Amino acid sequence: MKSIRELVKQNPFIGWVVFFVTIVIVFLLGLLASSIIERRAEAEFVYTPQVEYEQWEPRNEIWGKNFPREYNTYMQTSDTTFRSKYNGAHKIDMLALAPEMVVLWAGYPFSMEYNQARGHYYAVTDVQNILRTGSPMKPDDPSMPGTCWACKSPDVPRMMNSMGIEGFYKAKWSALGSEIANPIGCADCHDAKTMNLQISRPALVEAFQRQGIDVKKATHQEMRSLVCAQCHVEYYFKGDGKYLTFPWDKGFTAENMEEYYDSYNFSDWKHSLSRTPMIKAQHPDYELFRMGVHYDRGVACADCHMPYKSEGGVKFTDHHIQSPLNNVANTCQVCHREETQKLIANVFQRQDKVFENRRQLESILAKAHIEAKFAWDKGATEKQMESSLKLIRAAQWRWDFSAAGHGSSFHAPLEVSRIIGAGIQKSSEARLEIARVLAKLGFNDEVSMPDISTKDKAQKYIGLDMDKLYKEKKEFIKEIIPKWKSEAKEREAKYDVKNY
Ligand code: HEC
Ligand code: HEC
Ligand code: HEC
Ligand code: HEC
Repeated sequence: MKSIRELVKQNPFIGWVVFFVTIVIVFLLGLLASSIIERRAEAEFVYTPQVEYEQWEPRNEIWGKNFPREYNTYMQTSDTTFRSKYNGAHKIDMLALAPEMVVLWAGYPFSMEYNQARGHYYAVTDVQNILRTGSPMKPDDPSMPGTCWACKSPDVPRMMNSMGIEGFYKAKWSALGSEIANPIGCADCHDAKTMNLQISRPALVEAFQRQGIDVKKATHQEMRSLVCAQCHVEYYFKGDGKYLTFPWDKGFTAENMEEYYDSYNFSDWKHSLSRTPMIKAQHPDYELFRMGVHYDRGVACADCHMPYKSEGGVKFTDHHIQSPLNNVANTCQVCHREETQKLIANVFQRQDKVFENRRQLESILAKAHIEAKFAWDKGATEKQMESSLKLIRAAQWRWDFSAAGHGSSFHAPLEVSRIIGAGIQKSSEARLEIARVLAKLGFNDEVSMPDISTKDKAQKYIGLDMDKLYKEKKEFIKEIIPKWKSEAKEREAKYDVKNY
């Protein structure tokens, strides 16, 4: 074959053809690129409003009339089929998987029922149905505080606006039953006028304020994590007003928060076996995520849990918040070149390793509580028990801090391993101290352990009457929940929504 140069020498016309064809191709490529960029911009700005509503509009389906793509993908959080090795969209009975947890939470409602999370769609249903919220049948019955609704619904900012923040937290959980009707949704994360991301929960704004940070000045990429940090964080109910508070004043690590709680002498409950004043860790997803390499590189929660999606040439944000392992192509593989199976294996390896140590810590801690009870029964004094109880408190705080966030062993594997390591050391030391106390009291034999090999056996051991609790809850779900639902429907029918 002849080279182009020779061809052009023979016939100069071919040179001109090559020249013009190149110009046309470059022009077409330019058009394509500019249309892609425009489409991207369109995805963010163009929509035809169908209805007009207030910021406090809690119903996702009303917002969904204007933003059908986001709404339809949001509704997919109702799909419970996906399962990964440790997580997924289905409910997992955590107490059945690790019955030691029942002993660790003796005297606290978590020992009754604790499940791994489902999708946002179920937030209101699940908090109504769980044994932990009890079965308040009448207005005067004891009930959890309103604070328990705080991370469940866009009805929360609506009610805080109408009854005041303090009033909301202080109210009874049961008194707000007919007001909190819609699961986590649009008004939790978006401004109704501009659709910009916004913080609707005062606790997050206040926690940053106390650190001297104005969260309103956060960058767009930071907001793609901060909207999640409204709920996926460690928190406690402060004082008699049950004021929702994030314990971040001294920093974000397990030790920083422990120091904060210790400085108040704070405890969530007194352990019914060991009599330790305990702290219950919630789910420090955001705080632990900050300790991982992805946060360090500026990756946001939304990059993995709310990836971009294309439909008919329109790019938008997939609102099906779920395990990224169900969608590796649009999440991890936007940044990583490895095969799907390899990336999933990377996640499982980290989870397996953390899980191994976590289970060990659970077993040591359960023994420590049981041995402490034995020491009390044999007449140990407060003074003799003081240092063991301090160690148990510190060790269990570390266990809970690591175990309660179901993504943490991937989000920050090294930090979680470090915390669990310290927990193993402290709980082992506690057992040693208790053994010393027992020796002083004249007991040198090993304390015999009860059979806590299943959830039922463990619950029986700590003295829970599960049949009674289930029966009461069944009654509550049958009698009270339908009432709450119909009252909510009646109220919502009167909301002001303009059709265009
Ligand atoms: C948990 C927080 C959260 C909830 C709940 C939520 N969104 Fe979003 N939304 C986001 C994030 C994060 C983005 C991406 C914003 C960005 O990067 O600009 C987004 C983007 C959007 C956009 C901009 C276009 C796009 O798709 O990127 C629209 C419109 C939108 N959401 C509508 C909705 C609607 C409607 C609902 C309720 C059905 C909803 N959102 C619920 C967090 C949320
Ligand atoms: C208003 C509070 C709130 C906000 C805001 C929120 N979440 Fe959640 N999230 C929850 C609750 C509550 C659950 C558990 C729901 C259940 O089990 O019924 C949950 C569950 C989840 C799950 C488990 C779902 C599954 O299929 O396994 C993931 C993942 C998750 N959230 C990620 C996020 C991310 C990422 C953001 C920010 C873009 C976010 N959440 C914002 C409260 C919130
Ligand atoms: C927005 C980009 C982005 C996304 C999305 C992303 N990563 Fe990464 N990932 C990074 C960066 C950046 C690093 C740091 C590595 C570096 O800088 O060389 C990293 C590091 C890692 C590491 C090594 C860090 C460690 O734990 O030791 C693993 C494993 C990893 N990513 C897996 C995943 C998986 C699995 C997903 C999906 C669930 C994912 N990544 C999603 C950007 C991303
Ligand atoms: C680099 C990707 C990546 C980022 C960024 C990320 N996550 Fe995750 N997340 C994962 C992976 C992978 C899992 C484990 C999923 C599994 O085991 O199925 C996970 C698990 C979770 C879970 C438990 C899921 C379940 O099925 O119950 C929650 C909740 C969660 N993440 C919330 C967050 C929040 C909040 C942020 C930001 C503060 C965040 N994630 C940032 C990758 C990410």
